[in-house]
Amino acid sequence: MNQDYIKPDNWSLIEEGFDANRVKSSESLFSIGNGAMGQRANFEEHYSGPTFQGSYIAGVYYPDKTRVGWWKNGYPEYFAKVLNAPNWIGINVSINDEQLDLFSCKKVENFKRELNMQEGWLSRCFIATLNNNIQVEVETKRFLSLDIEELGAIEYSIKPLNGNAKVQFQPYLDASITNEDTNWDDKFWDTLKVNHKNHQAFIEAKTMKTDFYTCTFMESKIFINNKETSIESTIKTDSNQISFNYNFEVDKGETYSIQKFGGYVADRNYDKSELASVSKQILEKAKKIGFEGLLLKQKEAWANIWESADINITGDVKAQQGIRFNIFQLNQTYLGKDSRLNIGPKGFTGEKYGGSTYWDTEAYCIPFYMATKDQQVARSLLEYRYNHLEKAIENAKNIGLNNGAALYPMVTMNGEECHNEWEITFEEIHRNGAIAFAIFNYYRYTGDYSYIPEKGLEVLIGIARFWQQRANFSKEKNKYVILGVTGPNEYENNVNNNWYTNYLAQWCINYTIETIEKVDADYHSDFLRIAKKVKLSKTEMALWKAVADNMYFPYSEKHQVFLQQDGFLDKELIPVSKLDKSQRPINQKWSWDKILRSPYIKQADVLQGLYFFEDEFTKDELEKHFDFYEPFTVHESSLSPCVHSIQAAKLGRMEQAYEFYLRTSRLDLDDYNHEVHEGLHITSMAGTWMSIVEGFGGMRVKDNILSFTPKIPEQWDAYSFKVNFRGAIIKVNVCQNETNFELENETALQILVNNELVTIEPNNLVTV
Ligand code: BGC
Repeated sequence: MNQDYIKPDNWSLIEEGFDANRVKSSESLFSIGNGAMGQRANFEEHYSGPTFQGSYIAGVYYPDKTRVGWWKNGYPEYFAKVLNAPNWIGINVSINDEQLDLFSCKKVENFKRELNMQEGWLSRCFIATLNNNIQVEVETKRFLSLDIEELGAIEYSIKPLNGNAKVQFQPYLDASITNEDTNWDDKFWDTLKVNHKNHQAFIEAKTMKTDFYTCTFMESKIFINNKETSIESTIKTDSNQISFNYNFEVDKGETYSIQKFGGYVADRNYDKSELASVSKQILEKAKKIGFEGLLLKQKEAWANIWESADINITGDVKAQQGIRFNIFQLNQTYLGKDSRLNIGPKGFTGEKYGGSTYWDTEAYCIPFYMATKDQQVARSLLEYRYNHLEKAIENAKNIGLNNGAALYPMVTMNGEECHNEWEITFEEIHRNGAIAFAIFNYYRYTGDYSYIPEKGLEVLIGIARFWQQRANFSKEKNKYVILGVTGPNEYENNVNNNWYTNYLAQWCINYTIETIEKVDADYHSDFLRIAKKVKLSKTEMALWKAVADNMYFPYSEKHQVFLQQDGFLDKELIPVSKLDKSQRPINQKWSWDKILRSPYIKQADVLQGLYFFEDEFTKDELEKHFDFYEPFTVHESSLSPCVHSIQAAKLGRMEQAYEFYLRTSRLDLDDYNHEVHEGLHITSMAGTWMSIVEGFGGMRVKDNILSFTPKIPEQWDAYSFKVNFRGAIIKVNVCQNETNFELENETALQILVNNELVTIEPNNLVTV
């Protein structure tokens, strides 16, 4: 384990003691968000030490021009960057004319930072001794409102402890911000107007190239000993900033506080001519409800989320903190309110991965959202891809495919590919399969078929066409092969016949044909509409079928396993356990060349396939593959340990499953991969949820019936979770010697428990 400064707690993240070396990591861990915006836990006051400033507005990005040595045909022009947006949280503080700065002040004592996940707020308190020897006690609280999604609120109090002091609060807005990571040091924002009226301030700015118009706003209230006071302020503006100065002679022991409301309004949601007036209305509303009122609403909104999404673990506080942290961060990132949005691998907690959409959403996040929210949320995520179908068809054209073949981008903001490593952009094509799998999975879980004839079938046809054209017939093998790919294991590039990719290709084609037949039979007018629109023909379908029926799968008779790719057995097969610890993580210690030639697997690859399609393999087959591949897996992608945890649990290896669980759930809290300062691994957090519900709980859907095979790690006394299955809310409580099922609805439900049918009646606990 790597870092363990976060205090174990059931509902909060708590950091005690100030350490400048931890600031960037804590800025990630304590991030806050409300689905529409989010920010790293940067300090409100000035901080001169190493910090990574980040505040992001959902859907506001910049196309950073691709920078590569040798341009290759088909490269995307740009990499979409999530943009660090104008700063509205800033409150400079000075005490007897010295700026409060935790990095340069004389002493920081009693520092405590808390992220309260139950109620959705972030707080800090500390005692600072400045270089002028004034000692002050500081308390802050901040949250991004779930209720009014453009709004955030801060309360910041100062109490001089050893004498009277002249304290200045300088709340400000600042649009002269940059991103940490830019290809060309471009300026990303163009400030249009800096404006103020009374105690309110507004900066209107637009993003360069993408022309997202935004208004960043703020208003403050001042309090002495918790009583609102009106203080004259002076105002300072320049072309990118505006600040108010509130000065007050504070007596020793008195509390001087500021409440600051602020946030963003963007033309994604409002007409650009009304951004300032909408901002003003939001500020008026915020003032009317007040800080405490907004906080109360925040608690209620989080209580609602936890009501359906919480997982309660007793007897293991670190495991409990881990899963709640994961569920909390997922909900801070995406709430399903806006179908134009998706779930970036780093959410609103960092710049890496650009805040864009990856296959992570379909492969990992959809199951979490299907079971913990209304099914409309998962459907919205599917529609997101439907809305990008035209662009996926364009994308396939760019690599020379035709006839409506669709290649979804590996990374996207608006449907266009924006990743520019050739081995990923052109080769990591398995993402197309995950998108088809999600359509199947959505129907399997929710029972809602309507999405398929309305929209999903068109997506499936585009994807089936892609696979048929991307495969080629090998005379040598007398089979169809798929050459030059990168599987989920990105530590091998440009390989031939990645088993996972070939399997997905075959599955996608078969599933599409089966779906076409069903839609033709049961939704005939939709079938006719779609067939006409996409010019579907029986001859074409016969071509797909030939590919699916004759797909090649590399297999080792000796090991009795499918091979990750044609050349896997040529590698020097030394297990990870024989690697010296000093060599890990290999992606930080080895050259890329050495990694590519090694047998080490970044993340579940063949095992990812056995996870998706487990019904098509026996337990014995799973065990053989798990025993073959797990020893070479380094889990250097956050998406990996959860799959291994689920499979270890299925194989009854609870100790191993538990270890993988801790690794996935505390990946960021304990910083396993030494990179938490860059941001959190949001999408893999849904995998943590799967490790409990699908891994330990054994939840599956079998022929339209919800099924469980509950197990429990010996470290836990009990755990419980709720799932929404087709409108029925089922609460599952697993203890060491029994499992209880409870139903929150009025109609009885039949489920399978350890393969036996069990009926749960409303208001009646069933114990197995
Ligand atoms: C993983 C990919 C994943 C991406 C974003 C990479 O490290 O290998 O599978 O899609 O991160 O999470």
